[in-house]
Amino acid sequence: MAKLSQRGVNIPASPIRRLVPYADEAKARGIHVHRLNIGQPDIPTPKRMLDAYRGYDEEVLAYGPSQGLPQMRQAVADDYVRRGLPIEPRHVTTCFGGSEAITFALAAVADPGDEVLVPEPFYANYAGFAAQLGIDVRPVTASADDGFHLPSDATLDAAVGPRTKAVVYCSPGNPTGTVYRSEEVARIGRLAERHDLFVISDEVYRDFAYDGVSVTSALTLDCAEERVIVIDSVSKKYSACGARVGFAITKVEPVLDAIMRMSFSRLCPATVDQLAAVAAYATPASYFDEVRAEYTRRRNVLVDGLNAIDGVSSYRPEGAFYTVATFDVDDIDHFATWLLTDFSHDGQTVMMAPATGFYATPGLGRSQARIAYVLGVPALESCLSVLRAAVAVYRP
Ligand SMILES: Cc1ncc(COP(=O)(O)O)c(C=O)c1O
Repeated sequence: MAKLSQRGVNIPASPIRRLVPYADEAKARGIHVHRLNIGQPDIPTPKRMLDAYRGYDEEVLAYGPSQGLPQMRQAVADDYVRRGLPIEPRHVTTCFGGSEAITFALAAVADPGDEVLVPEPFYANYAGFAAQLGIDVRPVTASADDGFHLPSDATLDAAVGPRTKAVVYCSPGNPTGTVYRSEEVARIGRLAERHDLFVISDEVYRDFAYDGVSVTSALTLDCAEERVIVIDSVSKKYSACGARVGFAITKVEPVLDAIMRMSFSRLCPATVDQLAAVAAYATPASYFDEVRAEYTRRRNVLVDGLNAIDGVSSYRPEGAFYTVATFDVDDIDHFATWLLTDFSHDGQTVMMAPATGFYATPGLGRSQARIAYVLGVPALESCLSVLRAAVAVYRP
């Protein structure tokens, strides 16, 4: 057989999906597996979006423009303008999810062998996207002790090397749920200016911040027109992960131009999904008030419940729908696997994402797991009973 490329060999497996075969086996044994491992919200997709899919009745399902349908780019720009961010439709490129937007952004700013600085733990697929492009991830470790807020300027500066091209971050964060305060976003802007870097700001969870905390977009930075690329998506915003509609938003003209040329080569994003997404953007703001209230309830039940278990702790995340909980175990991968292969409580068990896969520094995250509160309160309460019983009997 011919030999695989180094990239083909090096692409990491997703830690979020790695345990799925064990969960399927548990299910086949009749055990109910609560899937808290994946950021797939159970909140209903807005009806107007589903109706737009049902109402599609063109004769030909044609290609659309490479950068997205005009009404899609307009809807996104209007959404930013409503938030006080002066974005024009031409700044918006529609992509196959935020995933493609991140890949385009990375490809536009870094060459093979270059580095991007990423606070860890980080969304594991950043490592996958970077590996596909031959770009190295340079992690800067954040700590659970301060809720995974941005490390100090000295730590960030020390991590920048001659091949560092960009800082990539996500706020509200996955896997941490941490919302960077405006001073932290400003620090990222100053870091970028000091070292001449781009800023790739993943804001796909920006509608999900709790306790009155506000989300600061990197587009507010003074350097936005020279350095900033924002990643956005309908996946989490409208609980529409299957639509595969996301956006790269930038005012940096050469980056915009590079992303445009990349978008030409893959012809166009999916037409019908964009029409449905356009309909979703007409959703009234009250939808988010209800969704935020629901996630706040869930977070409180989960975090209070985890902290009530001996040997488990969690800070109180202020955004997204995840927390990184710390367990009194040395090998979280073993514990998370054991929950599926060897344990059940009242016919139920829990699938979590071991945090080791969210760190690029080997050996970190071995006592931590990401738990997504994507299930309702009754299911979360069952999960807490499972975890309480599991922690009490687990012997590695
Ligand atoms: C932080 C973050 N960025 C981007 C994505 C990709 O989302 P999409 O479905 O828009 O490709 C995800 C999905 O989980 C995510 O958590």
